[in-house]
Amino acid sequence: MNVTLRQLRVFEAVGRLKSYTRAAEELYLSQPGVSMQIKQLESNLGVALFEQLGKKIFLTEAGHELYQASRIVDRQLDETEQILEDLKGVRRGRLMIAVASTANYFAPRLLAVFSARHEAVTVNLDVTNREGLISHLEANDSDMVIMGLPPQKLELEAEAFMDNPLVVIAPPDHALVGKKAITIQRLQEETFIMREPGSGTRIAMERFFAEKSAQLTTAMEMSSNEAIKQAVQAGLGLGIVSLHTLELELEMQRLVVLDVESFPILRHWYIVQRKGKRLSPVARAFKDFVLKESGKILQYPVLRT
Ligand code: PGA
Repeated sequence: MNVTLRQLRVFEAVGRLKSYTRAAEELYLSQPGVSMQIKQLESNLGVALFEQLGKKIFLTEAGHELYQASRIVDRQLDETEQILEDLKGVRRGRLMIAVASTANYFAPRLLAVFSARHEAVTVNLDVTNREGLISHLEANDSDMVIMGLPPQKLELEAEAFMDNPLVVIAPPDHALVGKKAITIQRLQEETFIMREPGSGTRIAMERFFAEKSAQLTTAMEMSSNEAIKQAVQAGLGLGIVSLHTLELELEMQRLVVLDVESFPILRHWYIVQRKGKRLSPVARAFKDFVLKESGKILQYPVLRT
């Protein structure tokens, strides 16, 4: 159908008001301008849309049909306009976010507060390790990610918003519990449960011990913080995890943070996006929220060494 949106708008107004003059006033057009648009439309469609009887104009049968269609199109456009306005105003939209498995101990709390404020926003959360997050950044399929150490190889915008201390954990009945300033050398006599390759926690831990020229003995490798905590509780070895994963175990006194020299390993949590990425209003709002309010919302577990 050879019809422009502009012609349809003019036609709808004439059909509704049954007057070229009033339609012209409403649309801020001249009366000849309006009748020219209608003539053009009639010639494009090959049918008469109006008939004039005396001074009055009426819709023809074809005119009636087009009038119904023009009302539907008008309504759809209005609705779409509303949705676009909502999108600009953060009232609805989708937030695509990926977080490190370790960050998932606090990310849901942030999302809960954010979602309560923006009820029509749908959140899509992927939880993965550091390597998985780098894949998301490479594929540019997330609005942003929360990670422990932004990779150098990509052009990124990364802003730190919270500390991420890594600590040594032991079961409550371990010989080192209660000892002060345990040396790195003494740690080398212990066996450790490690995170999997690709984990940010593991990279940080390996770097730390390499700098101290220390060699740790590893008993097992596990791909989640939960598994490591369970293994340490079961007496399989010591572990190194982010303090953020320990809230419950410290409160229940199922695990103890050891007092080791040079610990905690001080790291940070970053909110990261591809450089130059155009954030949607929802994503921008979430980023601002994390940078400004995460400190108030998230509380650190109490260290009991
Ligand atoms: P991860 O956490 O160990 O779960 O990958 C990310 C990080 O600490 O960098």
